Amino acid sequence: MTVLGIDIGGSGIKGALVDLETGTLISERHRIPTPKPATPQAVANTIKELVHFFNWKGDVGCGFPTPLHHGKALSGGNLHPDFTNKQVDALFKEVCGNNFYIVNDADAAGLAEIHFGAGKNIKGTVMMITLGTGIGSGLFFDGKLIPNTEFGHVLYKNGEIFEKYASDGARKRDGLSRKKWGKRLDKYFNHLKLVLSPDLFIIGGGASKKSEKFINQINVDVPIVPAKLQNEAGIIGAAMAVRQ
Ligand code: BGC
Repeated sequence: MTVLGIDIGGSGIKGALVDLETGTLISERHRIPTPKPATPQAVANTIKELVHFFNWKGDVGCGFPTPLHHGKALSGGNLHPDFTNKQVDALFKEVCGNNFYIVNDADAAGLAEIHFGAGKNIKGTVMMITLGTGIGSGLFFDGKLIPNTEFGHVLYKNGEIFEKYASDGARKRDGLSRKKWGKRLDKYFNHLKLVLSPDLFIIGGGASKKSEKFINQINVDVPIVPAKLQNEAGIIGAAMAVRQ
């Protein structure tokens, strides 16, 4: 079965046609910068552009960068506050005509890795952490997703969340080398280990493409690996939402 998978991020909206049986892209990947401001209408128009680019009439699976409840965004996340409580699946259907299935972006990336990548056949607790504009988390136990965890929002200090301190967005904002940034990630992953004792960490998101530049700064007593599907995990997992 083929589905259009779309990964909505804070800086780019990426789509491709995905073969759900093999978990592979069967078209080129097309990226459009996230509109600024990323209001519901502006994002819906960008989604429509992507759907037209692929001339796609079928179902669309969509990774969305906020916690969700039955297709409704619970916050505006790094998009726009107007998304709070928006029924995202209904909005996109109204603008594009297709049926939409919405899943949290980090849950999506994790789903792809658990089925087709670094988390395949791993028993116990697997934690996917996506490092991009924000920090997203996807938590799995024996291959089963516990949806909508927000471990990027764990408190760092003085009321500040780890996302503001250790995301790739924070690295760019503070002009850090990947090595220096890796030291922040070291604190973050050690804290996650303390609160969850997972069996495996998988690092995904845009930053996973250059993981060799920072991963050895993270000294945590849990196996930690980059996403096998790298940045494509978000698109593949988004497509998988159609069958969840
Ligand atoms: C949001 C998460 C999302 C993450 C990555 C965070 O700000 O709260 O839901 O997964 O960014 O996009």
